[in-house]
Amino acid sequence: MVPAWAFPTSPPPPKGTPPVVYDSVTLHGVPNSTQRYTRKQVANAFDIPDWFPRQHPAMPSSVQYGVRPDGRACGFCHLPDGQGRPENGTLAGLPVEYTVRQVRAMRDGTRGHANPSGTANPMISVAKGFADDEVRTAARYYARLRLTRRNIIREVADVPTTRIAGLLYALDGTGTEPIAGRLIEAPESIERHELRDPWVRYTTYVPLGSLARGRRLTTPGPVGAPTNCATCHGPQLLGVGDVPPIAGRAPSNLLRQLINFRTRARRDSTATPMYAVVDSLTIDDMVALAAYVGSLPPSRSPRK
Ligand code: HEC
Ligand code: HEC
Repeated sequence: MVPAWAFPTSPPPPKGTPPVVYDSVTLHGVPNSTQRYTRKQVANAFDIPDWFPRQHPAMPSSVQYGVRPDGRACGFCHLPDGQGRPENGTLAGLPVEYTVRQVRAMRDGTRGHANPSGTANPMISVAKGFADDEVRTAARYYARLRLTRRNIIREVADVPTTRIAGLLYALDGTGTEPIAGRLIEAPESIERHELRDPWVRYTTYVPLGSLARGRRLTTPGPVGAPTNCATCHGPQLLGVGDVPPIAGRAPSNLLRQLINFRTRARRDSTATPMYAVVDSLTIDDMVALAAYVGSLPPSRSPRK
């Protein structure tokens, strides 16, 4: 019963397809950055592009260079400032112990994902490529950074049509279609997303009424007070102790995590408290919760 639309995934290239050769001549830029990189540099997972070096502290080696052969640099996917991309998620502001435990769970096989296409979670080989102390250094770096909003949430009857580009949707510009209960998230520019621009915005399209429905489910909670999100995730859902913040994070990622708990793809020892929360929810409820929680401010004093 896992909806395939929640896990957009391009099919793997047919066997025998030669590896992509990236252009190493033409320089590209993104708005407000003076850096210039070729496609080949943007695709280098062991010395990552950094469009805004002054917007974050110096990166530790695990974030910038990773550990060959399997430990691709964390910043390659989660970006130097930890804002992440919807398909991998934000690390900025996550508790250190939470990050370390999640990576360990991916390495040990107690955290998978419910993607019905059966495609492997790219984090798993990465998790196997790093030792715990390298993960901890990265986790400490990201824990100090602050999440800023990258998503605009729109309630719609009809959604622009999309194509699947890797592990997310891209607008295809051909028209609209009924949203039909889905949550569809796409960058304003697939080009900037692919250049790993941390400031590209994403629009999250959800069915009409989702935000109000999500708010009602958040408080008092899907099955009453013990499942009130704020009881564990803290006031304004900004996290408490080792329980992660959830406010203002990418709704498509929040939705996938709710499904991952519901299907027990996430079954590390600390996942258990989430089971009572999700077990009574329909997909429509989860879409509503992901939209509402993702619409909340991600920090007490948002940075501009
Ligand atoms: C090749 C891309 C890639 C690299 C490199 C990568 N990750 Fe990830 N990461 C992902 C994806 C994809 C997910 C989403 C998995 C899921 O939905 O369960 C993820 C999820 C996570 C999560 C879970 C976040 C949450 O809130 O649930 C943590 C923590 C994490 N990564 C930490 C790291 C750290 C630390 C590094 C470097 C040591 C790293 N990742 C490197 C792709 C990557
Ligand atoms: C009884 C405590 C409890 C309640 C109530 C609770 N959560 Fe959680 N939640 C947790 C814990 C603990 C984790 C971390 C799970 C882990 O370590 O795998 C978590 C993780 C999550 C995650 C994954 C975040 C990530 O970084 O991947 C999401 C999304 C989430 N909760 C949403 C919610 C929502 C929405 C509600 C209210 C409807 C809620 N939670 C209520 C304890 C709770």
